[in-house]
Formats: sequence, structure tokens, C-alpha cells
Amino acid sequence: MTLKFEKSFTQQEPISEKAIARVVEILRTGRLHRYNTTPGETAEAALLEEDYARYQGSRHCLACASGGYALHVAMRSAGLKPGDKVLANAWTLAPVPGAIHNAGGVPVFVEIDENWHIDPQDLQARAEASGARFLMLSHMRGHIGDMEAIANLCDRYGITMIEDCAHTMGARFKGRRSGRFGRVAAFSAQTYKHLNSGEGGLLTTDDPDLAARAVVMSGSYMLYARHGAAPDEEVFRRIRLDTPNYSGRMDNVRAAILRVQLEGLDENIRRWNARWHILAQGLRPAGLDVPERAAHEDFVGSSIQFHARGIGDIPAFVASCAARGVELKWFGADEPQGFTSRFDSWRYLGETADLPRTRAVLATTLDMRVPLTFEEEDCRTIARIIAEEAASHAGKARA
Ligand SMILES: Cc1ncc(COP(=O)(O)O)c(C=O)c1O
Repeated sequence: MTLKFEKSFTQQEPISEKAIARVVEILRTGRLHRYNTTPGETAEAALLEEDYARYQGSRHCLACASGGYALHVAMRSAGLKPGDKVLANAWTLAPVPGAIHNAGGVPVFVEIDENWHIDPQDLQARAEASGARFLMLSHMRGHIGDMEAIANLCDRYGITMIEDCAHTMGARFKGRRSGRFGRVAAFSAQTYKHLNSGEGGLLTTDDPDLAARAVVMSGSYMLYARHGAAPDEEVFRRIRLDTPNYSGRMDNVRAAILRVQLEGLDENIRRWNARWHILAQGLRPAGLDVPERAAHEDFVGSSIQFHARGIGDIPAFVASCAARGVELKWFGADEPQGFTSRFDSWRYLGETADLPRTRAVLATTLDMRVPLTFEEEDCRTIARIIAEEAASHAGKARA
């Protein structure tokens, strides 16, 4: 009988009873808005900012409506003006170019390498050619490039680095947390990320002026004193009348869910990585290329990517895996499907350079989510199905 996998690739773990209890407590007060506090009370959103700043090792944190919103505000509060160029690795998901566009920036896409990192040589060439003063570095699918080389290059060219850590929350590079290399970082708490409040975003920085601008932009009215991990009052007084309100606050219910989940994040990272390694070990012997990760990259294996080379018709391979219950996403298709859009599908950006290397890398790139509702045994089953289908398709390709 053909082995089939039955579980859903989009099912996350339930919200814990502890988080539910805290949410119910907040619901009973009716004070869901972060500035709706009684005298002496600290809102849950402010407590989350303190907790997350501590976790991240950052001086400041802003809780907001979504990861894409945090990216937008990160760029604006870092000083991006309409028409400014923004270097960005070409392989990312649609909210990233969307956030650049929303902030008035003009993306200058940079090639990626075989391991899905930004290509430092191409970054240097495009930094020189464009004169861009911003880099939006998206650690796409959790792959962290050579952060020291990238940070040095940014210093040399006077480029402000903004890190998109939607897929690297909790990860480290040489012991330092992802998000601690740029001037500002953005995280997402949308359902499929490492914390799940349905929607949500976190912005972290050590820069007090940037943090104050971000808080006011997020829609603080003049109630910025009710933020956690925020700069001093005098910083706000300096910037508050020159900073617009682009409302995008987080509410106390989401904050309550996230505070409880944050306590379990490191343990969940261990669970993701155990699953990732089982999958990698199962796929490699089948000739599927799961590149080795650098020893100093403490990544989070919440998804896995591999190159499917020598198996001929990739859409047919993906369809065969799907027929056996295994959902793979292919980033090489000309037409975007679900979240797999490519740099050449963001037509609203106007004319952008073609990137043949990125296109070639994505032509063989397959991607799979690893929800924690999968047990380790499930990962063995999935790897077996993929490996069998790869062998069968490779056989057909050779015939
Ligand atoms: C790489 C990347 N960056 C940013 C975001 C934006 O996060 P959100 O969905 O919370 O706006 C996402 C979410 O899909 C993402 O995958």
C-alpha cells in the first residue's frame, strides 16, 4: 500500500490554557486597548515590550499590528524618505517589497546565492551603482548570511541596515541574536511564525530617537509614556510634533497570548530543530540537496528548503508529493501560487532589474513548512514520501 501522510501543513498548536486564562481575564476587564489602563496599571502590550526587549537584548521594543507594519515603521523611523532607494535581497515574501513600497522606498533587488543568502559581491556592486542608503535584509526562511561581512559593507557605504526577522525570531549568528546586527529589526507574530497571535509585529532597536519615532508613528497619540522598553520622555519631546501617526497598535489580547508563548519559545526552537534534522537526514540520501548550515548559524528549523536537481519536471514531482499528502512549495513557477511570489511578480514596483542568478536558484528551490503539530515520526514519514517520489521522478528523467 502506498504510504500517505494525513496531517495538515497549516495546523498550528492550540493556544495554551495559561494564555487563554490570561486572555479571558483581560476580556473581563473590557480594557483591550493598550492605552485603556486604570491608575497604576501597566497594559499587557507594554509588558510584552519589556519582555521582548529583554529576550532580544535590545534597549527598545514596540509592539504593533503586524510584521509588515513593523517593517514599514522601521524604515520610516530610520529616516527613509519617499523616493529613497532600498537594497533588498530578491528572495523574500510579498510583505517585504510591499512594506518598502508603503514607506515610499524604491527597491533595488540584490541576487541571492545557492544557500539563499544575499550575495555580498552583488550587494556591494549594487550599493555602489545605486548609491542606496538603506538595506532591507530579509532572513528569508531563516537563512542567515555572513552578518559580519554584511554589517562591514553597510558601515563602509553608510548604509542603514533594517533586518526582517520574520523567520529568525530566536535565531543567532555567532551567538548574537538575529535582529541585533542592523539599526532596527522587525518580527512577525502572524499565525505561521514562531509566535502566534494571529496577527502581530514587534520592532526592536537600541536607537532612542528611532524608537521614539516608531512609537509615535504606531499611533501613541501623546500617550507614549505608557510604553514598555521605550526611550525617556525628553526624546519624545524632541520628535513628537514632527512625527506622523500611522496607526498600527497592538492590543492587549494579542499581547497576552504572546507573553505566555515567549516563555516557551526556546523550547519550541529545540523541537523545530529536532524535526528539521530528521527531515534533512531523510532527504539528503535521496539526492535532494539540503545545504549544510554554518556551525555558527543557530537557525530555527520551522521550515525546510532543498534543491531538487535531476528530477526533471518539478511541478509533476510537487503534484506527486501532494497526492501523498506532502505539501511542497516551488518558488520557480512563473505564476505566483499562494505565498510563492517572486521578484518579477511585483509589477506594481515598475521596472526592476532581472536577476538571472536568483531566478536560477529559485528554479530548483522547494520549501516546506514544519508545524509543531508534526511529531518527529511524522517527519520520518514525510521524508520517506519525498525521497520515494524524488527517486521515481529522477528515474523517469533519466529514462
Ligand atoms: C519574510 C517575511 N517578512 C515579513 C512578513 C510580514 O509579516 P506579517 O504577515 O506579520 O505582516 C512575513 C509574513 O508573511 C514574511 O514571511
